[in-house]
Amino acid sequence: MKDAAPQTIHLKDYTPFGYRIDSVELTFKLHPTATRVISKIAFAPNPAASDTRFFLHGEELELISAAIDGAPVIPRKVEGGIEADVPDAPFVWEAEVEISPETNTALEGLYMSNGMYSTQCEAEGFRKITFYPDRPDVMAVFTVRIEGDQPVLLSNGNPVERGDGVAVWHDPWPKPSYLFALVAGELINHPDSFTTKSGKEVELNIWVRPGDEDKCAFGMEALKKSMKWDEDTYGREYDLDIFNIVAVDDFNMGAMENKGLNIFNSSCVLASQATSTDANFERIEGIIAHEYFHNWTGNRITCRDWFQLCLKEGLTVYRDQMFSGDMRSHAVKRIEEVMILRARQFREDNGPLAHPVRPESFVEINNFYTATVYEKGAEIIGMLRRLIGDEAYRKGCDLYFDRHDGEAVTIEDWLASFEEVTGRDLAQFKQWYSQAGTPRLKMSETWEDGALTLNFTQTTPPTPGQKEKNPQVIPIAVGLIGPNGDEVVPTTVLEMTEAEQSFTFEGLGARPVASVLRDFSAPVILEREIDDATRAFLLAHDTDPFQTWEMGRMLAKDTLIAMIVRDAAPAPAYLDAIRAVVTDETQDPAFRALVFGLPSQDDLAQTLFDAGITPDPQKIYDARESLRHTVARHLSDALPTLFRPTEPGTFTPDAEGSGRRSLSLAALSYLALLDGGAAATSLFAQADNMTEQAGALQALLSAGLGTSELQAFEAQWKDDRLVMDKWFTMQVASAAPDKAAEVAEALSHHPAFTNKNPNRFRAVFGALSANHAGFHHASGAAYKLLADQLISLDSLNPQITARMSGAFETWKRYDADRQGMIRTELERILATPNLSRDTTEMVSRILS
Ligand code: ARG
Ligand code: ZN
Repeated sequence: MKDAAPQTIHLKDYTPFGYRIDSVELTFKLHPTATRVISKIAFAPNPAASDTRFFLHGEELELISAAIDGAPVIPRKVEGGIEADVPDAPFVWEAEVEISPETNTALEGLYMSNGMYSTQCEAEGFRKITFYPDRPDVMAVFTVRIEGDQPVLLSNGNPVERGDGVAVWHDPWPKPSYLFALVAGELINHPDSFTTKSGKEVELNIWVRPGDEDKCAFGMEALKKSMKWDEDTYGREYDLDIFNIVAVDDFNMGAMENKGLNIFNSSCVLASQATSTDANFERIEGIIAHEYFHNWTGNRITCRDWFQLCLKEGLTVYRDQMFSGDMRSHAVKRIEEVMILRARQFREDNGPLAHPVRPESFVEINNFYTATVYEKGAEIIGMLRRLIGDEAYRKGCDLYFDRHDGEAVTIEDWLASFEEVTGRDLAQFKQWYSQAGTPRLKMSETWEDGALTLNFTQTTPPTPGQKEKNPQVIPIAVGLIGPNGDEVVPTTVLEMTEAEQSFTFEGLGARPVASVLRDFSAPVILEREIDDATRAFLLAHDTDPFQTWEMGRMLAKDTLIAMIVRDAAPAPAYLDAIRAVVTDETQDPAFRALVFGLPSQDDLAQTLFDAGITPDPQKIYDARESLRHTVARHLSDALPTLFRPTEPGTFTPDAEGSGRRSLSLAALSYLALLDGGAAATSLFAQADNMTEQAGALQALLSAGLGTSELQAFEAQWKDDRLVMDKWFTMQVASAAPDKAAEVAEALSHHPAFTNKNPNRFRAVFGALSANHAGFHHASGAAYKLLADQLISLDSLNPQITARMSGAFETWKRYDADRQGMIRTELERILATPNLSRDTTEMVSRILS
């Protein structure tokens, strides 16, 4: 059954389901095109509900039979599912349906990937498996029997029976249907175990395709570290006898936290020195932690409805960020988080797709797994903790876990726990969940009689559906640095609640320099009058690493903007400042590498637009290239020392090794502009790890070299699908503006290209939309190519199509010609017959 007119669902319309479920028994008889799913569900009237309609979701299901209390029934087909008349007392619902995993290219529900069965049910995929109240507030205990000739048959919970061609699993913890999972296939496990703090031994497995078993060790270590960390940091212990992770090649997202059976995009779990970069290792560690942490924040306590998605996602992202900081470096991690937040979430908040962290309506919930829900959601948790302090934060979390274990709850429930432990009123703070848009925080200073006053004003620009904005509670972390470079006031959190507010520091001897928004204490845009000398001073003396990096970044941005707008020469203040940091051997190499990096073209485009200047992508590209050459020449003496390849045989994927390589490779990409690619060519040939092999290739490509290395790379890695994704991406990412569309188009005809694998599709077309000057080339070729691709992908995989249409979300920044071309493409997409609900919603929002 396909729905006709897409419906908008509203938060305010929430009502509880009329029935609760005492138990669910499912039997799967696996078959590629005719899997039978037999369900037996014990329902009972829900005394807390007033609506007694017995409605079960169901999509793309062929109903074979149904019965209530053993008597056959023929349910009524209604929009999105079925209805039946049921007794006003406990009853048993039984149904048998047939589904076709093999033809399921949407990768939602039960589907096949390389001959193995896998599921993805969040958010609303379970309704493609059987008729069910597919909503997170209906929690139930599941028993699952799988019949199939695959050697490995997995589901949630603990194994109760394993036999020939059959396995039975029982999950004692009540869970919503979106956490259901099933995997069947020819898989090999990498086994291990973990003893919990109360002494319970847990069996751990990472299941992979034969041939990938040498890529599991790192993920397994990350899992054990995560389990330990959640015990130490949040007092949360694992609660089943077994924890399984499975790697799947065809997967729409990064990974999924199904109870006891996490399913991962293989790119987010498989790791080896030869095939994974340092960035891959870091990401894998973070995602393993993220999914594991969901066991408490998401699974034991889940969301009442999908509007509360940030309840589990924002909190779990925050938890994985803290974990990664503890495993690596908090300073570097924080800067990386801010870069991602600005690149994705600020971008979203500034355009037609802006929405609150807790949206109030949606057509397709899959469209709301966004940077706003995830990353801004995590920033809110960070702000809350900053405002109430570490101890109260932990107490509030403990209370939340105690009080709501086994429940499906709301943001109100979460905040109430903190109100209770602190006695604070969080009503104003709660606006962070409901008000979209990035606050602009303006600051000026007054200095008088040894007192420094910081004057702030905050405004949030209008966003779709929200014209008027209220002042937010903004924690502003401030420190003061004396003229001699010593810190005279250590970090203090100012709590801004008004539209305009001033804070005074008294009793100061000489006028200090204020370091404001330390550690990026709130997701706002700080606008502050500050000259280059003060920036350079903070860059040299601030004790807050985020601020030092930020000052370098602002110098870089100003330089680039002046080059773009006024054809100015690169500012000596910037060149000297970066030389000082990058060559400072006392500082962390990972931090120096971050300072070395230039702001992205997309970031510059947004900055120009905010300043009332229409960005010209080609000019932005040219200025950035020109600055890269200037930096290379300016640092030509230092580059050979900064470029320090890893000694063969000494690679370790930890923060230390990765930091050294990122500085070395940053230097290499500049060096390649000076030495004709000599250093990169030799590193490419010698590297014993993917970080340096790919880094060398990237350096060559970005210097317009590397043709033969590209071929060698393909010959070496043609059988490794994850490495080949890098090969596809690098070419599109480094293509010159006038060649990007052509390169992407040619790669889409490569025999190894397929739009059925989301990783491969993103490798080419995600890279095309991220190649700013290439995507926005004046010819419009890339716009048209992406639209063509999205139109043909939509009928196969609506989720990925909708997500990738976000490439156009910034279209209003650009000139009339580009806007016209983009509008034409968006309208062409929208006019596609049978366009999915997902893509229809996204494209309409972008156009509006
Ligand atoms: N809950 C998963 C996570 O940990 C993401 C699932 C996304 N699914 C989707 N259909 N959008 O982040
Ligand atoms: Zn998550």
